[in-house]
Amino acid sequence: MNVLLTGGTGYIGSHTCVRLIELGLRPVLLDNFANSKRAVLDRIERVTGVRPLFFEADIRDRRRLDEVLAVQPVDAVIHFAGLKAVGESVQRPLTYYDNNVHGTCVLLEALQAAEVRTMIFSSSATVYGDARTMPIVEDAPTEATNPYGRSKLMIEGILRDLAVAQPEWSITLLRYFNPVGAHPSGAMGEDPQGIPNNLVPFIAQVAVGRRDRLTVFGDDYPTPDGTGVRDYIHVLDLAEGHVAALQHGHRHPGVHVYNLGTGQGYSVLEVLRAFERVCGRELPYAVAPRRAGDVASCWADPERAGRELGWRAERSLDRMCEDVWRWQSANPTGYPE
Ligand code: NAD
Ligand code: UFG
Repeated sequence: MNVLLTGGTGYIGSHTCVRLIELGLRPVLLDNFANSKRAVLDRIERVTGVRPLFFEADIRDRRRLDEVLAVQPVDAVIHFAGLKAVGESVQRPLTYYDNNVHGTCVLLEALQAAEVRTMIFSSSATVYGDARTMPIVEDAPTEATNPYGRSKLMIEGILRDLAVAQPEWSITLLRYFNPVGAHPSGAMGEDPQGIPNNLVPFIAQVAVGRRDRLTVFGDDYPTPDGTGVRDYIHVLDLAEGHVAALQHGHRHPGVHVYNLGTGQGYSVLEVLRAFERVCGRELPYAVAPRRAGDVASCWADPERAGRELGWRAERSLDRMCEDVWRWQSANPTGYPE
């Protein structure tokens, strides 16, 4: 089975690529390197012994997509490509709607023409907005609190409309909670450009000496220790969730929606403590005001994915931190240029 991974050299795409190769499937990677580096391909080869097929392309470039699909026919698509920085999306909403929403429409047209009818889409728990009840089930109300989140909700809506118009499509919306972790080899991991927006990459950079201290955004939330609680999921568990969704989606047309999370929430301070255990020293932090747009708590009910896909996350928070630390200490400045 040939599987197109848009955004395939990105953080989640590259780890999913490794898992697909290990299972004997044939990933076909496509990326424009907006937020990833070519060296990822060398690392995938180092880890798996296989160099994946790769095409440099922008999902908004219909002619290039047609070319790629003609050279390399595929059976299904996992659509990771997108911009994902919440703050940047507030500053540059049109860039986000163009890249994420318009890009998805162009991709869908190219897939239609190539008669590809199975898509797994990278959605996000951000579509639940400030959810009232925890854990969050898939039928909870959705709302967008920023242009990034709105782009995800708009794409979910477009994909649902498409499945109504053309029932032969199989569309799986995977709503990720907080992906963290790295490949256990230490050769692959998350490589944010500039100052990391997310908690775990920031802590890892403090641990490796690239940043002085963690800023904890608020300690006055209605949570046990006052800091924000999230459902952190190991990127390899997430990769396995895609494989399960692919196997299921291929046999079941229609629209399927799954939370991919562990079902367990941890606070900012709990994550910091776990990382300290792993790197063997105390890490400095300072408490600052809340970050605009953050919710107090967010964790998944992953029961539906367990029941329908036979998938559940296995890796612990300590394991996530160990793998991040191995990657960060071996690659203090991330992937080479
Ligand atoms: P990432 O930035 O590492 O990977 C995305 C990849 O898409 C990058 O390699 C980038 O170069 C590529 N890309 C962007 N625009 C493109 C375009 N127009 N054409 C071709 N390639 C393009 O991000 P990630 O963490 O791997 O996230 C993958 C997907 O999962 C994204 O859609 C993201 O919104 C979603 N998601 C991520 C998280 C998270 O916390 N990491 C959480 C929920 C959802
Ligand atoms: N945090 C800090 N300091 C930091 C970074 C984060 O205290 O330097 C806190 C946040 O306030 C929050 C927690 O750590 O309480 C997690 O923050 P992240 O930025 O790592 O993750 P978010 O939950 O804010 O957002 C992530 C992705 C979004 C996605 C969302 C879905 O970045 O793309 O999960 O829930 F939409």
